[in-house]
Amino acid sequence: MSNTYPASDEFVADAHIDAAKYEEMYSASITDPDGFWREHGKRIDWIKPFTKVKNATFDFGNVDIKWFEDGTLNVSANCIDRHIVTRGEQTAIIWEPDDPKAPARHITYRELLEQTSRMANVLKEHGIRKGDRVVLYLPMIPEAAYAMLACARIGAVHSIVFAGFSPDALANRINDCQAKAVITADTAPRGGRRTALKSNADKALFDCSDKVKCLVVKHTGDQTTWVDGRDIDLKAEMAAASPYCPYTEVGAEDPLFILYTSGSTGRPKGVVHTSGGYLVYAAMTQQYVFDYHDGDVFWCTADVGWVTGHSYIIYGPLANGAITLMFEGVPTYPDAGRFWEVCAKHKVNQFYTAPTAIRALMGQGTEWVEKHDLSSLKLLGSVGEPINPEAWNWYNENVGKGRCPIVDTFWQTETGGHMITALPGAIPAKPGSATKPFFGVVPEILDPATAEVQTGTAAEGVLCIKESWPGQMRTVWGDHERFMETYFSQYKGYYFTGDGCRRDEDGDYWITGRVDDVINVSGHRMGTAEVESALVAHEAVAEAAVVGYPHDIKGQGIYAYVTLMNNVEPTEELRKDLVKWVRQEIGPIASPDLIQWAPGLPKTRSGKIMRRILRKIAEDDFGALGDTSTLADPSVVDELIDNRMNRA
Ligand code: WT7
Repeated sequence: MSNTYPASDEFVADAHIDAAKYEEMYSASITDPDGFWREHGKRIDWIKPFTKVKNATFDFGNVDIKWFEDGTLNVSANCIDRHIVTRGEQTAIIWEPDDPKAPARHITYRELLEQTSRMANVLKEHGIRKGDRVVLYLPMIPEAAYAMLACARIGAVHSIVFAGFSPDALANRINDCQAKAVITADTAPRGGRRTALKSNADKALFDCSDKVKCLVVKHTGDQTTWVDGRDIDLKAEMAAASPYCPYTEVGAEDPLFILYTSGSTGRPKGVVHTSGGYLVYAAMTQQYVFDYHDGDVFWCTADVGWVTGHSYIIYGPLANGAITLMFEGVPTYPDAGRFWEVCAKHKVNQFYTAPTAIRALMGQGTEWVEKHDLSSLKLLGSVGEPINPEAWNWYNENVGKGRCPIVDTFWQTETGGHMITALPGAIPAKPGSATKPFFGVVPEILDPATAEVQTGTAAEGVLCIKESWPGQMRTVWGDHERFMETYFSQYKGYYFTGDGCRRDEDGDYWITGRVDDVINVSGHRMGTAEVESALVAHEAVAEAAVVGYPHDIKGQGIYAYVTLMNNVEPTEELRKDLVKWVRQEIGPIASPDLIQWAPGLPKTRSGKIMRRILRKIAEDDFGALGDTSTLADPSVVDELIDNRMNRA
């Protein structure tokens, strides 16, 4: 039995959902999904109310997912306009800049309406229409929120590219979704340093159609190049634009955004989320999972470049009329107390971050936490990877002071919102377990080999979802076949998460990590195939195999086995060069932590690389390599073990 941590009686008394309510609502959501979501679909404003609720099939070959399909709405109006009468002067967004000495900003719902409208009008003037794609490559600044909501306002589809991605990665995404415009900024301050976003965008646009416009937020005022006729000074045009823009009516199933994410094969795929179901799901999970109450200050530390930022900085909180905090900086600048300083400064009530950040701060000692008044905190959240017991305990004791429930939220870019998570007033936390499914979510554990459903309470296997939920992705942009192939082909009739999972005797779920060739580096998802193709694109590299290995802070580190071209000398110089190369090709988050020179890779006689063996060696756990007799040349394994880079 693992320890469980129920919320205090006071917390439960005030919570939206207690244990009895969870049971009742969960059961209703499963036995009568149409009735349940017909009711909860009303939490947002519809222009034309829906009459149909759920219409989804997971049948391989015919996968088709629709929610509220005959309803119409506008997402921006739901996140802004409908709050104007009741809370126009209330803060919508608290913006905390990178530099702690620079002033924070409080943006009211009224101001959000004006700025979003101005930006929407600028987009319209430059020919952006309903259905057009706009790529956002921005720092964590209010303009990022305005840009998302401005696109939504006119029915355009945004696709945010994390500002840490390289020009190449940016160009690939602009081209894949055939964006008409890119919105970027001059430079992005983070941790006291600056990333040259505009200059990266310039490089990217070199590889794109010359029709793509570049709207530039002059944020720092740093000098940039300027291409007349293509580059647009966004703030200047916003100042001159009309302060009101009417919103466009869109269908529930019209796309709201595309977000590229890594898979086990090929290039990142454009995950498509649509308008109605996504918004209902993001808003409902934000309210219930974080037990958000009117007037609370909610802080999700993610970047808007990831889905967590979409659902829990922007869409969920704003649809609920919440106060959401947006932070431009990093947890360790100017010192390791910055998160806690910001919590104290803005009296944050719910704080949501990733285990990798907790582990990094844990290593700096508790004095950084103790310096700041954290009495405003009511709840803590975790996301991105399983949280290890040391990090959980540290978070609970030092940040939550033992009185804040912790919600460990399992979900994915594809799921739009939380899937398996405690509801703080209803389900006691169990360190390391994401605990129970959210309303409408039907998890099943399947045997990875036979695809048999594990019916016992205690079970282990791969995690699949049996029924659609409103926040689910609808397709891969431009490639529905790939959508079906990736998520619905391996386990017929199910959505396959790609994660391994255990269910304990209490029916609580424990995510055990990816079972495919996707690794989780600091809570960021990376396809090993992507890193490999970046490496082999280097002239010195003949072949590369990439695996994850346990890393104290990042969760998983990137371990690359590299076979060099015949005449190339393996030097320290070249190793550094390869790291730099991958950073340039993909971005800093893909930098290999360890590169091992591999004269040969373990392959089957048919030439397939045996990653299982490479993973074991990278884990420094080569005692149990399993059967190596099917290898074409078993001797390469000894060589790799002798020269392994990770020695615990
Ligand atoms: C993968 C999804 C949407 C969250 C941010 C990452 C892992 C995510 C947890 C958790 C254990 C988790 C899974 C999942 N993951 N949250 N609470 N416990 N694992 O989104 O980049 O789409 O990655 O992150 O492996 O499949 P993502």
